[in-house]
Formats: sequence, structure tokens, C-alpha cells
Amino acid sequence: MLPLGGCGGLQSTLQPAGKEAAEIATLFHVLLVGAVVLWLLVNGIFLYVTRLNPRPLSRRAAEGLIIGGGILFPTVLLGILLAYSMSLMSSQRETGNAATSVSVTGEQWWWRVQYRREDGSLLASANELRLPAGERTEVTLTSNKVIHSFWVPALAGKMDMFPGRVTRLALQPETTGIYRGQCAEFCGTSHALMAFQVVVMTPEDFERWLEEQATPAAEPEGMLAMEGRQAFLREGCGACHTVRGTPAAGTTGPDLTHVGGRTTLGAGILPSTPEDFTRWIQHTDTIKPDVYMPSYDHLDQTVLEALGHYLKGLM
Ligand code: CUA
Repeated sequence: MLPLGGCGGLQSTLQPAGKEAAEIATLFHVLLVGAVVLWLLVNGIFLYVTRLNPRPLSRRAAEGLIIGGGILFPTVLLGILLAYSMSLMSSQRETGNAATSVSVTGEQWWWRVQYRREDGSLLASANELRLPAGERTEVTLTSNKVIHSFWVPALAGKMDMFPGRVTRLALQPETTGIYRGQCAEFCGTSHALMAFQVVVMTPEDFERWLEEQATPAAEPEGMLAMEGRQAFLREGCGACHTVRGTPAAGTTGPDLTHVGGRTTLGAGILPSTPEDFTRWIQHTDTIKPDVYMPSYDHLDQTVLEALGHYLKGLM
């Protein structure tokens, strides 16, 4: 049972929470049954001719066995399974009637997320995808430098993300909840640390959430958070990060306008508490090797705590 320990929970193709993933799970079970039937037949014949009836076969019987069992039967069975697999492919990419459109770009070990709003504008977010349950979302995928692969096993199959090209995926989650996604194409030192959460909400909650995301960042509450904002602007964080409503307007790194409301930090690898924000800012180099963001371990502990407090407050 030990090897099956990794098959459960939030990141499992065998516990589908969406239409596309359900089709893939059914495909897996159909192929599994097909493989077991074929295996039993081949081994049954092998057992029969070697143990149960080890006499030489007549020429006719031997030819019949080779043509029937070696050519006809596998061709028919594999042909049926192939046709069934191919018939699922078109619906896996069907983005035509999508109600929501999201663009995701693979960056150096994080995910740039942009929701397309009704007026056509793009709303920036990062490292978390929110989706309405029961509705189809079109996800357009690309990458800035190397090939990544976008994979949320509980919702759909994986899709590669190529620099200079756009690929598409359809997601139709059916069950609200939080699912985990992971980059599925080796993309460098911290490939394994390139994850994200998908939060599936009711369509009403999703609309409300999207409206909130479009608002500027919350004003800092309390002295510590105020000091955090001052430090954020003073230390030059705004050269890479945007916090809408402040002078920080960099686009190299993740948009932080509502970073405190995300379920994880550092692209799916840390919990989202003020202490984790502090730890992340202080030790990016060891938490996520080769990430672009430098470690700010030269800052005083009080400044780091103020930064962590301020960022967690950006709900
Ligand atoms: Cu991105 Cu592996």
C-alpha cells in the first residue's frame, strides 16, 4: 500500500473534482480493465500450453493461435481502446462556451495569473487560481522563458506552457474546495517548488471575489503595518511588485495588491501567515533556490516583521 500513499487528497487524478478530470479517471479505469483482460488472456494461454497441456500443437492450431491471439485479438482490443481515448480528446480542449477566461504565464518558479474581466481589461494576480464551480473556464497558457507545464490533477490533464506560444485548457470544476496544482515539466532548480492552489467557489462567491480583487489595496491598519508599508516603499520592493493604490507598480514579480488573501505564499510552498511573509523576505535564497527575488536578510528583524505584517494585511 505504501506506493499508493501519494494517490489521495488534493492532488489526485483518481479523485476527480471536475468534468475533464472525471473523463480522464474513467479513461484510466477503462484502459486498466482492458490491460488486465489482455494480461489474463496471454498468461492464461501461456499457462495452458506450458503446464496444463504441454503437448506440441498441430500446425493448424499453432497458426490459429498466432494469427488470432497474436494479431487479430490485440489489434481489435487496442483499436477499440485507442478509438475510445481519441474520442475524449476534443472535449478536453473545448473552450468555446467558456464563461470565464484566465491567462496563466509560467515565470521563474511562480505563476502570473490574469483574469479577463467583462470590459476586456485584465486583473493581475499570482500563484492562486480561483474558479466558479459548475461553469467552464478557458485557461490560456504561456511562458516567459522556458517550458513549464500546468497541471491540476483533480481538475484536468496537464498542458505545456511554451515561450512565445499560447496553449489552451478548459476547466470545469464541479465541486467547491481547494485543489493543488504543480508544474509538471522540469524547468530548473526550483521546479519542484513551483506549485499553486486552485480555489473553486460558487459562481456568486467568485463574482464577489473578483469585484474585491479589482479594488485597490487595503490601507494598513495599526502602527506595525504602517511601518511595513513605509519599509516596502523605502526598500524598493515596488521596482518588482505592484500594490495598486500605492506608488509600487513593478511587474517583474507577482502582483501583491491582495497577496494576504491568498491561501499560500511563495507559489504554493509556505502557509500564509505574517511570520511566513517575514521568513520568505529574509530567506528567499534558501526557501526557493535561484529565485529572482533577493534575500533581505540585512534588514532589522523589526523591519522584517513590519513588512510581514503589512503584506498579510493586504487582503
Ligand atoms: Cu515550472 Cu517546472
